[in-house]
This record gives sequence, structure tokens and C-alpha cells, in this order.
Amino acid sequence: MNINAVDLFCGAGGLTRGLSNAGIDVGLGVDVDPMCEYPYATNNDGEFLNHDVTSLSADLVSEHLDGGTYRLLAGCAPCQPFSNYSRGKYNYEPEKWSLLNAFGRLVKETGPELVTMENVAQLKNHEVFLKFKQTLERSDYHVWFDHIDCHHYGLPQTRRRLVLLASRLGPIEPIAPTHPNKGDWQTVRKTIEDLPAIDAGETHGDDRLHSASSLTNINMKRIRASKPGGTWRDWPMRLVAKCHKKKSGKTYPGVYGRMAWDVPSPTMTTQCYGFGNGRFGHPQQDRAISLREAAMLQSFDRDYAFLADDQRLNFSGIGRLIGNAVPVRLGEVIGESIVQHVEQYGRTSH
Ligand SMILES: C[S@@+](CC[C@H](N)C(=O)[O-])C[C@H]1O[C@@H](n2cnc3c(N)ncnc32)[C@H](O)[C@@H]1O
Repeated sequence: MNINAVDLFCGAGGLTRGLSNAGIDVGLGVDVDPMCEYPYATNNDGEFLNHDVTSLSADLVSEHLDGGTYRLLAGCAPCQPFSNYSRGKYNYEPEKWSLLNAFGRLVKETGPELVTMENVAQLKNHEVFLKFKQTLERSDYHVWFDHIDCHHYGLPQTRRRLVLLASRLGPIEPIAPTHPNKGDWQTVRKTIEDLPAIDAGETHGDDRLHSASSLTNINMKRIRASKPGGTWRDWPMRLVAKCHKKKSGKTYPGVYGRMAWDVPSPTMTTQCYGFGNGRFGHPQQDRAISLREAAMLQSFDRDYAFLADDQRLNFSGIGRLIGNAVPVRLGEVIGESIVQHVEQYGRTSH
């Protein structure tokens, strides 16, 4: 018994890697960003196709799905439409959601037994998601969806995501949390403490991804004044940014923070390599976390390759691949849930 999968919007391969670790054969990953090719193809067995999903042919997808006992269409359409946080709410840009509709079209045209989708938590109550779910239900899928707190499954990071699982074989649900209690949670310390120390602006000689962005003089003083788990409110007044001194800025404690060692990290974003962009200061060293540390907090293996030898290190490009990824561990949880479901229902219905 085997499950063949195609990963739409595959990025650097976080979801693919996790599904593969759970025993699913992901034969194809599709993404419009050419930067994804190297990490996707180098670390995974499947083929990478640089293509726009909106014009992707169902025949091509079916070629990669067919031949296994079961077929899984997986995907994580970009979440930017809901990540643009301003004035206390997420702006909604409906035109970008044609991508989720493109996923729905491919489900209808290829008719796999299994479908999974992951996205930002905010999507849960939006029309475009409800339409996607309705498309599945009208095509005889059993659908489960809800928020998943990734640290309850062993990710060393607090990350809440919307996950959907759908099956034509029978009712489907995720496996039970593997790390439900606070005492079980994976921590920043267990994940990155062993990496060699580097300075702000330094790249380690053995691993180009273990590279930390440089800090301005004022930011160096600020990180020195930052306490693990604290915020800019711990700093002496002379270091506090003008915008934070204003009444309107006092409510933004989520930037310029240093991580604490013995808890999961904050949510990794596409800007996770910048001290001023979130709570991305290293717990002990006076610098932001390196790209490698960010990737490990996203549960990529320590040697997951993101850059070819002749490729220039580009913080924003690699940061985007890391921050946008489905954590490998969440991909495993999704994959394990699907494998368990197929073991339960597959034999009786096939
Ligand atoms: C949230 S990321 C997916 C992350 C990926 N699943 C992973 O685990 O690493 C969304 C991806 O969609 C891609 N994308 C955006 N528009 C696209 C399109 N029209 N067709 C294909 N891919 C697209 C982006 O380049 C980005 O890599």
C-alpha cells in the first residue's frame, strides 16, 4: 500500500519533507518561485516544477498521482493576503485568493482520495476557505479542519496554523498531540544551543546558512540591554526608539526581543533573521538568530541545503523560504494522520 502525492505551492519543501518522513511518496512539487528549486530538489526525492498553479494542467498532476494505491493532493497557498497586519486587523485582499480556487479546481479535475491544506489561522472564517471546504464536501469528501498549535506536536516554536484534512475513504482527523503538556514542549535550547557561536554579521566557515545579519551600533547597544524573553521595555530610555516612546507605539512589545532558552521560540516569519523584526534576538549571543537557527526552529534538519555553492547568500530570499515553510514537523503530523487514516479505512473501502 502506498500513497502518491503532489505538493502544490511547495516552497523549499517543508511540507514535502514532513510527508515523506511519514512514508508518503511525494513525486512532484510545484512553485512559481525559481529560488525553491535548489532546496526542494536537493533535499527531496520528488521532481520540482517551476510553474504557476493557476495554469497547471490536471493531466500533469495526475501523471504524478497515479500508480499508487492512494492519491494525495497537498498544498499551502501563499498566506500573504492575511499576513498584512495593520491597524489592529488583517487586511483581506480577495484577488490573491484565486490561488486557493486553483487548488480547488485541481482537486475537482484530478479527484484524489485524499487532500490536505495548511494556511494561516486567520483563514478559518473567510469566505474563500468556506468555498474551498464546500467544494470538497460537494465532491463527497469527509472534511476535518481546525487550528493546530504546533508546539503541542513537538515543534520548538509557537506557531498556530489552520490545517484541513479531507478524505473520500471515511472520516479523518489528526493524530493526538504528541507533546500536550508544557513540560514536554521542545525548546530553543534543545534545538540550537549546540551550534557554534558567531558574531553579528558573521558567517560560519562550515555552514553558510549559519550566518547572522549585522547590527548597527545602536542595535548592538539595544541587544546588549535585552533580557531573554524580555522586550524593549527593559532598555534604558536613551535606547528606546522614538516610535516606541509615543503613546501609540507603547503597545508594540513584539519587536526587538531576545528569545528565552527554555521555551519554544516565537513564530518564525520571513523576517526572522532581523533583530528589529520580532523577538528574533539570540538568547545569549549579541545578535539575531542565524538563518540556520531559524530553519532548525522550523524543524528542518541541520544539514537541509538551501543554497548551491555558487549561489550568493541572500538573507531576504532565504528568510522568505524559511519563514513561509510548513514546519517539517507539522508536515510529519499531517502525513502520520493520513497514513493512520488510510490504515484504518483503506482496507475496508478498497
Ligand atoms: C506558504 S509558501 C509554501 C511553503 C511550502 N509548502 C513549504 O512547506 O515550504 C507559498 C508558496 O506559494 C508560491 N506561489 C505563489 N504564487 C504561486 C503560484 N501562482 N503558483 C505556484 N506557486 C505559487 C510561493 O512562491 C511560495 O513558495
